[in-house]
Amino acid sequence: MHVGIIMDGNGRWAIERGMPRTAGHRAGAAVVRAVVEAAARSRVDVLTLYAFSSDNWARPRTEVAALMRLLRRHLVSEAPRSVANGIRVNVIGRRDRLEPRLLSAIDSIERATAACGRLLLRIAVDYSARRAIFDAARAAGSMRALTCFERRLARATHAAARAGDVDLLIRTGGERRLSDFLLWECAYAELVFSDTYWPDFTEGEFRAALAEFARRERRFGRVLANSA
Ligand code: IPE
Ligand code: IPE
Ligand code: MG
Repeated sequence: MHVGIIMDGNGRWAIERGMPRTAGHRAGAAVVRAVVEAAARSRVDVLTLYAFSSDNWARPRTEVAALMRLLRRHLVSEAPRSVANGIRVNVIGRRDRLEPRLLSAIDSIERATAACGRLLLRIAVDYSARRAIFDAARAAGSMRALTCFERRLARATHAAARAGDVDLLIRTGGERRLSDFLLWECAYAELVFSDTYWPDFTEGEFRAALAEFARRERRFGRVLANSA
């Protein structure tokens, strides 16, 4: 099962507490570990977290710098735990605009965890689904088969392994939109929206979303046999 999460609401969480937005990002980063470990203990095979969208470059320079720094520190500090817990980490998204120190943190966690097989954790950084689809279409050129296109799509986002379609998409922070996240892969995703700001999101709420998913009837355009 592939779960995607749009981790939203860090800024508002901080503002409501009279703190700078970056304090919200710090609090949000602390929640990531709990949710990743909960995913590893459940029947999730792939978890894709939206950490920084290509449109997020338009935020104030200081906020962008703080996000990049947090991300780098997170990757460095989580590497040993990821190996110990069997979590393979792969950063998806554009790499050509990331700073060298972040690139080397990405490279080292990806290499250290390459053989891990319990959970594939994909972190989307400088990610734009439209851009990925556009690049894949351009690269696919004359290729006819859809599988070729999908392979190109994976390559366009630096995906280390086939992650397939998203089964469950969770968005925290109250907004009901995709914000350019996994547009192609979410074709039949079950959507769960939570009003909780990401820094307040808990393992319990994550489990509740998985339980909600289990109650949904997925039809993929068909009529189910028992409803005929
Ligand atoms: C999500 O929280 C984190 C990123 C987009 C990097 P936001 O920073 O978007 O928080 P809000 O939506 O402003 O509350
Ligand atoms: C989406 O959240 C990106 C991430 C969570 C990383 P945004 O906060 O950037 O999305 P919009 O601007 O509300 O659509
Ligand atoms: Mg937001």
